Amino acid sequence: MEELERLAAEIARCQKCPLARGRTHTVPGEGPSNARLMFIGEAPGFHEDRLGRPFVGPAGQFLEELLRSVGLSRDQVYICNVIKCRPPNNRDPLPEEIEACRPYLDRQIELVQPRVIATLGRFSMARYLPNASISQIHGRPRRIGDVVVLPLFHPAAALHQPRFREAIEQDFLKIPDLLREATSEEDRPEPGAEQLSLF
Ligand code: URA
Repeated sequence: MEELERLAAEIARCQKCPLARGRTHTVPGEGPSNARLMFIGEAPGFHEDRLGRPFVGPAGQFLEELLRSVGLSRDQVYICNVIKCRPPNNRDPLPEEIEACRPYLDRQIELVQPRVIATLGRFSMARYLPNASISQIHGRPRRIGDVVVLPLFHPAAALHQPRFREAIEQDFLKIPDLLREATSEEDRPEPGAEQLSLF
């Protein structure tokens, strides 16, 4: 069994926090194990909980539209969330839920080794930039360790608010160049060269 599948099976048995009691399915994430681009969302919603797959509701349709706008499709990218079970009534994830799920996300990133990570919304941004304000730094890529992090607004917020929608559409257009740069780079920075702005 492939490592990511093994991890998904482990997540399916997880009882580390009370969200386990309310879930229909865990939503580990999906995509090629060697994807160069990873999206990290917030948490499964209603549709994701039903199907056990990330971003399959309206926010997911918008994400697919955004991917198409830069010539990508969802089967080329890895998509997952900060937490793997749906919070009741889609409330924000709690710090202890994020902590309980952290090792799963760490492992996914370790296994996939993406070159570019696009964070969707403030909870996944906070993994890399805990004190940043998404309104200020969205669309500004940073090199953090050996990955380039692109903070984006959450597509669910962008769906309903024209200001965010325009921002995420524009910010997405940076992805092809980031992928080209990140994969053609030969001089990898030394570990510890953290949080240098790319531009
Ligand atoms: N919103 C998220 O953050 N993740 C999903 O999987 C679906 C909606």
